[in-house]
Amino acid sequence: MAAVQIGVIGNGSISASHLNAYKNNKNANIYAVCDLNEERARSAAEKYGAEKVYTDYRELLADPAIDAVSICTWNNTHAEISIAAVNAGKHVLVEKPLCRTVEEALEVQKAVEASGKVLQVGFVRRYDANAQLLKSLADQGEFGDIYYAKATAFRRLGNPGGWFSDIERSGGGPLIDIGVHVIDLCWYMMGRPKPVAVSANTYRKLGNRSNIQNLSFYKAADYDASKNTIEDMANALIRFENGASLMVDVSFTLHAKKDEMSVRLYGDKGGMEIDPEAVIVSEKNNTIVNIHPQTDHKGFHFESGFQNEIDHFIGNVLNGTQPISPVQDGVEIMKILCGIYESAEKGHEVKL
Ligand SMILES: NC(=O)c1ccc[n+]([C@@H]2O[C@H](COP(=O)([O-])OP(=O)(O)OC[C@H]3O[C@@H](n4cnc5c(N)ncnc54)[C@H](O)[C@@H]3O)[C@@H](O)[C@H]2O)c1
Repeated sequence: MAAVQIGVIGNGSISASHLNAYKNNKNANIYAVCDLNEERARSAAEKYGAEKVYTDYRELLADPAIDAVSICTWNNTHAEISIAAVNAGKHVLVEKPLCRTVEEALEVQKAVEASGKVLQVGFVRRYDANAQLLKSLADQGEFGDIYYAKATAFRRLGNPGGWFSDIERSGGGPLIDIGVHVIDLCWYMMGRPKPVAVSANTYRKLGNRSNIQNLSFYKAADYDASKNTIEDMANALIRFENGASLMVDVSFTLHAKKDEMSVRLYGDKGGMEIDPEAVIVSEKNNTIVNIHPQTDHKGFHFESGFQNEIDHFIGNVLNGTQPISPVQDGVEIMKILCGIYESAEKGHEVKL
């Protein structure tokens, strides 16, 4: 079988996770890389053995040797590059969030459906082995009807700066950047119910706290703390058509004692925790039992999550199968995220 020829567009921080995983996949070949910053693209090409280096993604997409691309650029370019890529006949793995607005998301969906190409959204949390185990149990009815979920993604200090904190390029702050992961994970586990209403708050109280010393955090490749036009905290209650609800709170900074990641779901037959570690809560012989699955990693494992995501993408490209995180799911998540920002701005619940 001929290897899938890959182009990786955007060669900043997260691209290394894509490139490493492609390198490990025997059915993929890293053929080209592309970044606005030529030196960054050249150094990725050297490290991963890419034949071609581009600084303009349009030139990369015009290269007939390329079958599929990973889009690891700023959020404001996801829609434009995804549409251009499928129109050029390439399959796409686009980093989360799918884009910045529902309008952009619908444009991407239209282009993907017209092209017949695969577009996989990089909801990497779905691809973790524990998440897949819990999802298969949920599908078998282990938890019954999942009617409530609660997720927290608190960084006490972790505004990545640069484009992440420029709302024009990011589309938002911690909600669209890290909230997207936990909202998507809960929604996926709940069986993708239709969201109908959102009530939310966002806060801009602490700024980016670039004054803080002696504590390191994730930074954009072009870190710059001079511009910060995003929220630093958000919370929301999302209601679904089937009566289920999801409560979420996220921050890039907060006067919290420590970072906190928790994802918990509750059904009428059982419950589950995904973060900080996988736990199944059940009832046996009139007794409540907490079951700790014996898997390689207790919580989310970044490296294998990305490996599974990339392996799944290559499989979809080779077999013409649909991803478990298709464009339609990217669109639904954009409706929720944008609804949260709209509700916070208006100060009341909004219908979706
Ligand atoms: N799945 C995850 O867990 C995860 C983690 C971090 C980031 N991300 C996502 O990955 C994307 C990139 O984030 P990052 O942390 O790598 O950012 P980064 O700033 O470190 O890197 C982005 C790179 O994209 C390049 N770029 C921007 N626009 C471009 C264009 N039009 N053409 C070519 N190159 C372009 C920039 O020059 C930069 O090198 C974002 O969408 C982010 O949300 C996902």
